[in-house]
Amino acid sequence: MKYRDKNVTIGEVGVELPDATEVFKEFGIDFCCGGHRNLVNVIIEQKIDKEALFTKLDKLYEERKASYEKNNNRFDQMSPEVLTTYIQDTHHEYLRRVLPETADLFNRILRAHGKNHQELFDMYRIFGQLKTDLEQHLLKEETMLFPDFDELEDNKQEIIELTQMIINEHEAAGELLGKLRKISGDYHLPEDACQTFAKTYRLLEDIEDDLHQHIHLENNILLKNYVKR
Ligand SMILES: [Fe+2]
Ligand SMILES: [Fe+2]
Repeated sequence: MKYRDKNVTIGEVGVELPDATEVFKEFGIDFCCGGHRNLVNVIIEQKIDKEALFTKLDKLYEERKASYEKNNNRFDQMSPEVLTTYIQDTHHEYLRRVLPETADLFNRILRAHGKNHQELFDMYRIFGQLKTDLEQHLLKEETMLFPDFDELEDNKQEIIELTQMIINEHEAAGELLGKLRKISGDYHLPEDACQTFAKTYRLLEDIEDDLHQHIHLENNILLKNYVKR
């Protein structure tokens, strides 16, 4: 169990225990862009209840061990080809579906509630930037990074530069999501919110959750050998 090692990074724990991302979320630990940080340092910095965290991780470890024999879909054991196909089929497909849907809902709630909730205008602007950034980002990965990943691995300089660009874009997306969360007061719904308003906030939180897992797979598993720390 690597997670009890004092030098372990958050990303390494996520690789050892894929379900740990849920536990990290619960304890407010950033496991995608902050995946390279040392777990022990984060526990100290964020004043996290270490015993409570480790008890949950121990439980996951036991469950993992029990199901290990029959479970062969560990992300870190997938070939780059299988992993990139998985990322594309699940996370990229999801974003292509949900981003336009959320933009559409935003338009509707701006018309109905924008006058009384002017923060929605700021949120829509930031969301628009996130949407455009992600749309080009997905295409960049699908056209430049994912195909022939094995061949790219032979060209170290090229893959390191590409990896850096991809990781910078992940961080930028994380910052925009952070702004949206802050402006909305952690997606707290106002009293006069209608169902469309609630659905928009729910989708934004879903996008945030999905993106954390998506970035975790790319930063901490697919690209981990090319990341300059
Ligand atoms: Fe991606
Ligand atoms: Fe990405």
